[in-house]
Amino acid sequence: MSFLRSADVGYRRFLMTDRILDIQNLKTYFHTQEGVIRAVDGVYLSVRRRKALGIVGESGCGKSITSLSVLQVIPSPGRIVDGRVLFYPEAESDRPVDLAQLKRHGRELRRIRGKDISLVFQEPMVALSPVYTVGNQIIEALRLHEPHSKRRARELAVEMLDKVGIPNPDVMVDRYTFELSGGMRQRALIAMALVCGPKLLIADEPTTAIDVTIQAQILDLIRSLQTDMDMSVMLITHDLGVIAEMVDDIVVMYLGKVVESGSLHDIFDRASHPYTVALQRSIPRFQRRGQPLEVIRGNVPDPYTRPQGCEFAERCPKAMNRCFQDKPAMAEVGDRHSAKCFLFTDEVESAPGREANVR
Ligand SMILES: Nc1ncnc2c1ncn2[C@@H]1O[C@H](COP(=O)(O)OP(=O)(O)OP(=O)(O)O)[C@@H](O)[C@H]1O
Ligand SMILES: [Mg+2]
Repeated sequence: MSFLRSADVGYRRFLMTDRILDIQNLKTYFHTQEGVIRAVDGVYLSVRRRKALGIVGESGCGKSITSLSVLQVIPSPGRIVDGRVLFYPEAESDRPVDLAQLKRHGRELRRIRGKDISLVFQEPMVALSPVYTVGNQIIEALRLHEPHSKRRARELAVEMLDKVGIPNPDVMVDRYTFELSGGMRQRALIAMALVCGPKLLIADEPTTAIDVTIQAQILDLIRSLQTDMDMSVMLITHDLGVIAEMVDDIVVMYLGKVVESGSLHDIFDRASHPYTVALQRSIPRFQRRGQPLEVIRGNVPDPYTRPQGCEFAERCPKAMNRCFQDKPAMAEVGDRHSAKCFLFTDEVESAPGREANVR
């Protein structure tokens, strides 16, 4: 297909890395009475096998909707209108499954959800049922995918609750979720997500509601499982300290698009896109020591309209005339480090194949 035919050097190099998830030109829109919200508007990103990818960007830039799109658990009326979500369960040489093509409530997607790919959300009460005990929900998740006896499944559930730091796990396993504190619920949810040993864990602010000591414990757990079980991770968090500890690669999103991608060091030490630089200066722990915090000037534009040129031009301290007219193509600024900005390319955004946002 034209996408591959027009692949450039960066994209070919990208094809050689071992990915477990490869999102191409993903568009997830909300059609509302007031207009169309392009929450995710042509996202390209990859998660490498056994590696962790962090997604960063200001509130509303599309981080959660991107991650929810992977398993099509997008809130109504949102839906995927274009793009591919290629999942490589075993090795990249295998034929990928395009998750975006699967039926939303179909058997195939249900089989992948929980077993191959697990999700941990911001709000645990949405994912946990109030009418079953914590143990029953974990046992259910296990037995849905593996033929364990009830007794063995219960043992594994207790083990997992212990691993995520729930005290007295053999008692807590019989509690209902509404009997748990917020932090305990979040840990129960993480236990449920990890119990089947997923190949990919998608975690959206997984530890925000949890106190700092337990947070460190859970992040350690995720990291050790990542090594022990060859798990890959897609992590969304506002805490850049956590990002720095946990991830290998980062994508920076702005208005539903990836504007820069690279390794942790590329983004922290060699940020190229003016938006990433501004983001760094505005967030404590991201900016270099001794520099004052700065506010990114201007506001995120209203969600129903999109600028004609570069999405960031209105707020960009380096904007040139053409930035208000054309949208820049993704440009390589280093080895597996790309930025979508006319400071680094003369090319305008065109067919998907030219979008070498590639990791
Ligand atoms: N249920 C919905 N209906 C309509 N628009 C929505 C809905 N959920 C999200 N959006 C829109 O999609 C865009 C992206 O939202 P998303 O939740 O992905 O942002 P985010 O980057 O995760 O932000 P945050 O950091 O605050 O969690 C926003 O403009 C938001 O208004
Ligand atoms: Mg979010």
